[in-house]
Amino acid sequence: EEMDHSTMGDMMEGHMSHDEVVMLNDSTGENELRIPSILEQDDEEGVVYTVRAQRGKTEIFDGTETETYGYNGSFLGPMLRLEKGDNVKIRTINELDEATTFHWHGLEVAADVDGGPHDALEPGEEKVIEFEVTQEASTLWFHPHPHEKTSEQVYNGLAGLIYIEDENSKSLGLPTDYGENDIPLIFQDKIFDEEKQLNYSAAKNDDGTIGDTLLINGTLNPKLTVNKEKVRLRLLNGSNARNYTFKLNTGDSFVQIATDGGFLNEPVTLNEVTLTPSERAEIVVDFSQLDTEKDLALINEDGSILLPFEVSVQSETVSRIPGLMNDFSLTEEEMDLPVTKKIELFGMMDMVTINGKKFDPERIDFTQQQGVTEVWEIYNKPDMMGGMIHPFHIHGAQFKIISRNGEAPPENERGWKDSISVSPDETVKIAIQFKNKGVYMFHCHNLEHEDNGMMGQVKVE
Ligand code: C2O
Ligand code: CU
Repeated sequence: EEMDHSTMGDMMEGHMSHDEVVMLNDSTGENELRIPSILEQDDEEGVVYTVRAQRGKTEIFDGTETETYGYNGSFLGPMLRLEKGDNVKIRTINELDEATTFHWHGLEVAADVDGGPHDALEPGEEKVIEFEVTQEASTLWFHPHPHEKTSEQVYNGLAGLIYIEDENSKSLGLPTDYGENDIPLIFQDKIFDEEKQLNYSAAKNDDGTIGDTLLINGTLNPKLTVNKEKVRLRLLNGSNARNYTFKLNTGDSFVQIATDGGFLNEPVTLNEVTLTPSERAEIVVDFSQLDTEKDLALINEDGSILLPFEVSVQSETVSRIPGLMNDFSLTEEEMDLPVTKKIELFGMMDMVTINGKKFDPERIDFTQQQGVTEVWEIYNKPDMMGGMIHPFHIHGAQFKIISRNGEAPPENERGWKDSISVSPDETVKIAIQFKNKGVYMFHCHNLEHEDNGMMGQVKVE
């Protein structure tokens, strides 16, 4: 269908080409970073937890209450710490006044506990889910996934972390003191209105809502006090649509030790790391090796100050970064497999599609056999404006990147992934196997794109 100029103009208004994304305000560093509490098990036999989605009021700005959503609290959620091999039971409760779901992003579980849009709980409803943790140590997260309402509910504050630990992660000698030298960092950008409220419908952009105000773990103007030691930062891009390229203001390097779904085989030394929405990276910054006379901060690519560090005393803690951390491999067989599924990401604003189609909960787009590895090829087709990055995510499995535009992926992507950045005109090949059966979503994790239909379904049989 031909579009006339005014339609085109309307559509273009608000379209986020990445060079014109509004900068974040610098963090003034006046508030110590909030560390999410660790979720306690219920007083019951076994590994049993309760997670409730609820509304609340949160003092983000001094002396003002902002209406927010949270899990087991008014804003964001606690950290759920699981061990490989655990048989977990979670009682999920919807105390909101709208439908929601509980999605475990990155967790390899059966589709009926995955919390996709088919699993809505109405207000007041609850559901007990059970699963075994079969995957390795990693940093995952959970968030809602209701049909066409994911972006608004995440924006309002529904997001929490999952740490999986295993024998390997406990024996490596890495920093593991939660909140001391093992720090979760959930990055989210927001727009606050004059009343300091999160007014989603006013803030919303169909091409991905981008804010000027950064919250880390829900903290406005955060700073992090650390000891002069190795500090592990578990970075989660929990934003609706903003991409970040993290670096140190001094230009010093750090090492990346983990991707979305597990440890890299070896630490990778970097000066910056880019995360698109829903991606994670674990990095270690060695403050004992930095010039702490200088003001140190984590900054974004554009120079905005995200997280100033205050370096306090010399620490007694001796942690290390082993040279070998995992046995991840991409086999010859996997690299030689033919492409059996093709995904074409296209469009902008509310005209986004996958393979020319918008999400239809009644339509199965692909089928795949349980336990069989297939190669998917994901292509981001540019549009007349050049196009934009789409962060592509698949539920229920961790996968391996085979190539980006025919080349081996960068060293810090040679590990388990569940979300990948796909740039305009880029083709990414991945090898993926599902351990469990059922219908899983795959979609763009720019949450407005997801809600606008940039999502499909794979049925694992
Ligand atoms: Cu992070 Cu379909 O989700
Ligand atoms: Cu997208």
